[in-house]
Amino acid sequence: MSTTGLILGIESSCDETAAAIVSRGSQTLSSVVASQISTHARFGGVVPELASREHLRAILPVVRAAISEANISLADLDAIAVTSGPGLAGALLVGITFAKSLAFALGKPLIAVNHLEGHIHAVLLNQRQQATESNASSDPEENTLALVVSGGHTHLYRATPITANNHLAWHYSLVGRTLDDAAGEAYDKVAKLLGLPYPGGPWIDALARFGDPHAVPFAFAQIKQKLHLVGKTPRTKAAKTAPVANLDPHFLFSFSGIKTAVLRYVELNHLRVSMEDAKLNAESRFARRPETHAEALALCPQISLDLIASFQHAVVGDLLKKTFAAAESLGCTNLLVTGGVAANHELRTRFTAEANARGLQIAFPTFALSTDNAAMIAAAAWPRFVANEFAPLSLSAEPALALGR
Ligand code: KG4
Ligand code: ZN
Repeated sequence: MSTTGLILGIESSCDETAAAIVSRGSQTLSSVVASQISTHARFGGVVPELASREHLRAILPVVRAAISEANISLADLDAIAVTSGPGLAGALLVGITFAKSLAFALGKPLIAVNHLEGHIHAVLLNQRQQATESNASSDPEENTLALVVSGGHTHLYRATPITANNHLAWHYSLVGRTLDDAAGEAYDKVAKLLGLPYPGGPWIDALARFGDPHAVPFAFAQIKQKLHLVGKTPRTKAAKTAPVANLDPHFLFSFSGIKTAVLRYVELNHLRVSMEDAKLNAESRFARRPETHAEALALCPQISLDLIASFQHAVVGDLLKKTFAAAESLGCTNLLVTGGVAANHELRTRFTAEANARGLQIAFPTFALSTDNAAMIAAAAWPRFVANEFAPLSLSAEPALALGR
């Protein structure tokens, strides 16, 4: 195994403190993730202040574990890469401050990585690793469309490899995105409505196979062109970094409607967790939350399982329809699907079947690299390391950092 081009990646943008050592953007020597799920579960979502505190606690042991599992010493590192955004400001700052201190103390270069580019490199890392192992060439695909679908994002990017001065870099252009909630956020909110634990995605994934996906006909409206936004100065930070006015409305997503539709259905059919339950304090409510998928299955009436299956079927169907429409319209023959929701079994099965039917290539990260991790950050840093694209020690957190234009 190569022990050159060693990059320590650090990720702390949300509720996972992660560190990894990756060699030349293609061989993972270690990948350590400390999840804060148990801290946030009581609140049914990430509490930013608690996230920062937990990152502070975890960062040193996690980095030490990554170094020791890789069987290297700090002096062997060639660079330190860290997520600089997007994410929670306080959470990002923990990783950034740690990375800067380490880079300064060791006299090693610092590399800033966009978290969304990291998710894309979770797939590219796999592909480069497989190519290295089988001595095949790993020429980057020209016509690549990437769907980043996670708890914070549902974004479609066209990713183009560019070779300049013998260095490979990637250029991204935004093709579509959600106008409101991310798909993972919808999973988490629907799970919460039904009294399932946080994060809800894996629970819904596990329970959906026991329900009828056609029981509740959820529909997604076609989003209209935001004509009134064309030529206007964007007013919010998010709109500034990723303006929707110039995007084809066929590739825009919206998941807040289905969340409300599920809420109405739950209320009408008394599926929740009644409104009284909602008013109970967190402790007594969570005392009744299931701890295993089998327990959840036993607790869910068939009507809830049908709702869960129908919700998932609709969300995956919408992601699929718009992603493949974008691929067709842009002539993209290679698809990368990544982010926490890319761990979803129905999504993987249906996307793979559709890609096969259309003769397109499709790739996902390994299950471990679908959700937040630092191997993807170290991998995304590799082309920047080769191109000497280093960050200054004045690097700060960019909570609304965009990828591509
Ligand atoms: O990529 P990630 O770890 O963090 C962000 O960058 O947001 O994604 C976390 C999201 C959560 O919303 C979680 O519920 C969802 O990914 N998720 C899933 C599955 N596993 C995680 N959603 C659907 N099916 C899954 N198997
Ligand atoms: Zn993420």
